[in-house]
Amino acid sequence: MLHLTSLLLIILINVEAADMVSISVVGHTGPMIEGTWYELRCDVQKVAPDQLLTVRWYKGQTLLTDTSFNDSIKTPVDKSATYWIFANTTDDGAEYRCEAVLRQRQAGPQPPTTEMSEPLLVTVYCNCPVVLQPPAVVVEYGTSVSANCSTSKPHFGMAWEVPQGAVDLREDVQLITWNLSRLEDWDIKPLCYINIKNQTKPDKRHLPVIVYKTPDNVSISIVGHTGPVTEGTQYELQCDVQNVAPVHRLTVKWYKGQTLLTDTFFNDPTKTPVNQSATLQISPSRADDAADYWCEAELRLGPAAPQPPPTMKSDPLHITVHYGPEISDCPEYVWLKEGENLEGYCSVTGNPLPEPRWLKAGKPTDPTSPLRRTENRHNYTMYINEDTRQHLMVFVMYGPEISCRKHITVLENDKVEPNCTAEGFPPPEVTWFKEEQRVYFPKRMQRADAGKYVLVAVNNSTSNHTLEIEVQYSPSGIMGLNDQSVTQGSNVDLNCTSSAWPRPDYEWIYHPEPNVRIVSEDGVSKLSIASASGNNTGTYTCIASNTLGKTNLTVRVDVQGAEALCPLIVNPFNVVLEYRQSVVVECNTSVSPSDLHWEFLNHRVNNGTLLVNSSQFKNWDETPRCTGKFIGLDTCTKHVDITLYKTPDNVYNSIVNHTGPVIEGRQYELQCDVQNVAPVHRLTVKWYKGQTLLKDTFFNDSIKTPVNQSATLQISPSRADDAADYWCEAELRLEPAAPQPPPTMKSNPLNITVHYAPQIVSRMNSVLVPIFSDVSLNCSAEGNPEPTVMWSFKNQTIITGRRQSTLTISRATSANAGIYTCTATSLSWSQTREVKVEEDYRFLLISVFIIVFIIIFLIILVAYKKKRTRKYDITRNNNCMAMKPLKNN
Ligand SMILES: *[C@@H]1O[C@H](CO)[C@@H](O)[C@H](O)[C@H]1NC(C)=O
Ligand SMILES: *[C@@H]1O[C@H](CO)[C@@H](O)[C@H](O)[C@H]1NC(C)=O
Ligand SMILES: *[C@@H]1O[C@H](CO)[C@@H](O)[C@H](O)[C@H]1NC(C)=O
Ligand SMILES: *[C@@H]1O[C@H](CO)[C@@H](O)[C@H](O)[C@H]1NC(C)=O
Ligand SMILES: *[C@@H]1O[C@H](CO)[C@@H](O)[C@H](O)[C@H]1NC(C)=O
Ligand SMILES: *[C@@H]1O[C@H](CO)[C@@H](O)[C@H](O)[C@H]1NC(C)=O
Ligand SMILES: *[C@@H]1O[C@H](CO)[C@@H](O)[C@H](O)[C@H]1NC(C)=O
Ligand SMILES: *[C@@H]1O[C@H](CO)[C@@H](O)[C@H](O)[C@H]1NC(C)=O
Ligand SMILES: *[C@@H]1O[C@H](CO)[C@@H](O)[C@H](O)[C@H]1NC(C)=O
Repeated sequence: MLHLTSLLLIILINVEAADMVSISVVGHTGPMIEGTWYELRCDVQKVAPDQLLTVRWYKGQTLLTDTSFNDSIKTPVDKSATYWIFANTTDDGAEYRCEAVLRQRQAGPQPPTTEMSEPLLVTVYCNCPVVLQPPAVVVEYGTSVSANCSTSKPHFGMAWEVPQGAVDLREDVQLITWNLSRLEDWDIKPLCYINIKNQTKPDKRHLPVIVYKTPDNVSISIVGHTGPVTEGTQYELQCDVQNVAPVHRLTVKWYKGQTLLTDTFFNDPTKTPVNQSATLQISPSRADDAADYWCEAELRLGPAAPQPPPTMKSDPLHITVHYGPEISDCPEYVWLKEGENLEGYCSVTGNPLPEPRWLKAGKPTDPTSPLRRTENRHNYTMYINEDTRQHLMVFVMYGPEISCRKHITVLENDKVEPNCTAEGFPPPEVTWFKEEQRVYFPKRMQRADAGKYVLVAVNNSTSNHTLEIEVQYSPSGIMGLNDQSVTQGSNVDLNCTSSAWPRPDYEWIYHPEPNVRIVSEDGVSKLSIASASGNNTGTYTCIASNTLGKTNLTVRVDVQGAEALCPLIVNPFNVVLEYRQSVVVECNTSVSPSDLHWEFLNHRVNNGTLLVNSSQFKNWDETPRCTGKFIGLDTCTKHVDITLYKTPDNVYNSIVNHTGPVIEGRQYELQCDVQNVAPVHRLTVKWYKGQTLLKDTFFNDSIKTPVNQSATLQISPSRADDAADYWCEAELRLEPAAPQPPPTMKSNPLNITVHYAPQIVSRMNSVLVPIFSDVSLNCSAEGNPEPTVMWSFKNQTIITGRRQSTLTISRATSANAGIYTCTATSLSWSQTREVKVEEDYRFLLISVFIIVFIIIFLIILVAYKKKRTRKYDITRNNNCMAMKPLKNN
C-alpha cells in the first residue's frame, strides 16, 4: 500500500507523475526454489512526458542496480523494467523493492520525485536431497530436452514423473535422466521424486521448463489509416506479433529510426502460442516527416536461455507527415531600404511545400525585385490561399540624398545661403556644422568664416556633405616690412606679407642687383640682400595683389659707410674748353627705365646730350649737372668739370726800373707780364735764359676769369750773362684733357749787356831773365767795356793797348831789372799788377848746352830745322813755364 503522504506529495509536485509503481515475479507464483532463475518486473504507470525515468532495484536496503530510460515520449505511458534473480536459500525472507526516480528533462533546481513499490517478499525452498541438473530449462517448442535428477542419499527408488519421457522408479541408481527428443507440450511440469530412506514422505522437485516459440511474423501498421499522416493528429501504431509463446515473456520494443521509444510487456499467463498486438499512440510532428517506425519482438528468457535472446524485427513503417501551409515572420509594417527586396520576409512552411505568391495591390509581383522609392507605402500580400495570406505595408526608406554644391566663393560681408536640399524617406533632418559647431544659414561671411561646412542629414541613415566656402578679400596692409639701416657687408632680409584671399601675389619694385634674391613661400615674399653694398641703398616697394585689389609699402634700406649707387655716366666728365668754343657732353646710364636731364645755365635739357657753348657763360665757373631718377634709387646727380681757358693776349718781359746795361753783381728784377689769361691757377710762367729754363712760377689765385698776371725773376747778372737773352713763357697746364701741346705764349727776348770791372789775367809776379836774352812781358785784362792796358816802369808809361799790351825787352841787362807795373782801366775802374824782372847767368850755359844738343839732334834726324828764337809767353803757357827752372814766387 502506498503511503498517503507520498501520494499527496507526488500529486502536489506533478499531477502527471507516476501513479503507481509495482513489483512482481514474471510467470511465477508461490515460493521459489533454490538454484532457479526468476524474473522480477517493475511496472511504472503513466510516466509523464519530458520526464526521465530511472528504475532502481533494492534487496532490503541494498541497491542492486538501476535501469535508465532515455527515450522521449509525448504522452504519458507505462514503463516496465525487469531484473533477473537466482534463487538462493540465503535470500529466503528477503524483501525486493523497486523505485521509480523521475527527473524533469529540463534540469532545474527541482529535486527528482521518487516512488517506491511495495516490498516483494520471497520465500526460497531448499529441496536439498534432490539435485536437478540443469536446475531449470529453457527450450524451444519441438526441440530436444534433457535433465538429470540425482541424489547422494540412500533411497528406496527415484523416478521422473512426466507425461512424456517418464523414467520409472529405480532403486539401483543415484541418477536418472529425463530425455525427450522432441518437446511438444506447452505446459509440461516434470517432477523428480526420491523415496529417501528413513523418511516418511518422498522428496519431490519440479524442473522449471520454459517452452518458447519465436514469432512467425512481426509487422507494424497504422490503425485505420493509410498514406501520409497529418501533423498534430493522434494515430495508433500497431505491432502484430504472430504465433509467439509464452506471451508473458514477450517485450515489444518501439523504435523511431534508431531511437527506442518505449517497450510493451504483457501479463497474459497463456503458455501456448498466441497472436499478440501492441499499440503505440503517436502524434507526429513535422520533424517526424520521413521517419521510420518499427517494432521488435523480444523474448525475455532469462540467463539460462540462449544468448542473445531471440528477437524479430518488423519492416520499417515509413511515414510522411503533412502540415501547414503556414506563413510566419510576416510583420504588418515593413521598413526597407531602397534596393532591398521582400525576400526573407514571410517564410512559408508546409508539407507538401506550398507555393506562395506575392501580390501588390492584388497584382502578382516579384518579391526579389529591388524596391524603388516610388513603392513607398505600398500594400503587399503574401498569398497561399484564401485562408492563408498576410498583408504587409512596405515603407521604402532612402536617402538622405543631398544635393549641394561643393564649393562656393563669396566676397567678404556677403550673405550666404547655400541652398542645399536633402531628400529622403523618412524626411531627413538637416543640420550644418563647422568644426563641430552648429551653424545657421543665411550667414554674413567674414574672412574667419571661410572653410569647410558639413551638412549632416539624418533620417534612417545619415549622409553628410562637405561644402567649402571661400571668402575672398583684397590685401589689406603689408606686415613685417620695416626700414633697415645696416652695415656694409651684412645680410638683409625684407619680409613682405599681406593677408588676402585668394592668396596675394607679391611683386617688388627696387633696383636690381646680383646680390638681391626674392623667394616667395608660405604667403611670405622674402627679399634677401646678401652682403649689402652701397648699390643696395635705396627704396624697396612690396606690392601684394590679388584679383580684388592691391596694396603696397615702401621701405628704405640704408647701407651705412658705403656710397649709394649713382648709375650715371657723364662723358666727358672733365672738359677743358677754350673760351668761345663749344663741346658736347653726354649723360648716359645702363640702368633703365630712367629719367635723366641736364641742368645748365638755369636751363633744363631733358636729353642726355648737352651742348656746352662757352660763349654763353655768364661767369667762368659754370657746371652742367646731369640728374637721374631710377627705380629704387635715390635721385642722384653727376656734373661735368669744365675748365674754361683763355690764352694770354700778350706776354711781355722787362727789367723793373732799369734800362741799358747792367752792372755785374747787382740785383735786378725781371718781370713777365701775362695779359688776359684764364684760369690763372693753371698758369705757369717759365723763365728762360737762352734755352735754359731758369724757373717756373705757379699761381694760387683761384679766380676763374681772365686776369693780367705778372711774374718776377730776381737776377744778379755776371759777365757770362753779357749779351744773354732773357725771356719768359706763359703755359696753361690743362692736363689731362688739354689740347697737346699745351697752349703757350712766349715773351720778347730781353738782351742784356753786363758791365764789369777790368781784371788782369796774368798772375806772373816775377821773371828771371837770363842775361842778354830777350824777354816779353804780356799783360792782358778783361772787362766790359774793353779795358785799356798800359805798362809802366819807373812811373813812366811805356806802352798802351786795348785789352792787352806786350812789353818787349831785348838783350836784357841789369838795367832792365826792376819793377814793372801793368795797369788796366775801364770806365771808372782800374787794376794794377807788378812784375819783378831779374837777371840769370846760369841760363847762358844751359842755353849753350841746349843749342849743342839741338844741333846734334838736327844733324842726326833733320837737316833743315830752323833755329828758333826763344820766346816766353807769360799769358798762356803755364806748362811751358813749368818746364823751365824759373823761380816762381
Ligand atoms: C546460495 O548462497 C550461498 C552464499 O551466498 C552460496 O554459498 C551457495 O552456493 C548458493 N546456492 C546456490 C544453489 O547457488
Ligand atoms: C533412520 O532412523 C532411525 C531412527 O529414527 C535412525 O536411527 C537411523 O539412523 C536413520 N538412518 C538414516 C540412514 O538416516
Ligand atoms: C492591405 O490591403 C488589404 C486588402 O486589400 C486590407 O485588408 C489591409 O488592411 C491593407 N493593409 C494595410 C496596412 O492597409
Ligand atoms: C540661393 O538661392 C538664392 C535665391 O534663389 C540665390 O540668390 C543665391 O545665390 C543662392 N545661393 C547659392 C550659393 O547658390
Ligand atoms: C533604420 O530602419 C531600420 C528598419 O526599420 C531599423 O532597424 C534601424 O534601427 C533604423 N536606423 C536608424 C538609424 O533609424
Ligand atoms: C561624413 O561621412 C563620412 C563617411 O561617410 C564619415 O567618415 C564622416 O565622419 C562624416 N562626417 C560627419 C561630420 O558626420
Ligand atoms: C623674415 O622671415 C624670416 C623667416 O622666414 C625670419 O627668420 C626673419 O627674422 C624675418 N625678418 C624680418 C626682418 O622680419
Ligand atoms: C655697384 O654697381 C656698379 C654699376 O652697376 C658696379 O660697377 C659695381 O661693381 C657694383 N658694386 C658692387 C659692390 O656690387
Ligand atoms: C602704393 O599705394 C599708393 C596708395 O595706395 C598708390 O598711390 C601708389 O600708386 C601705389 N604704388 C604702387 C607702386 O602700386
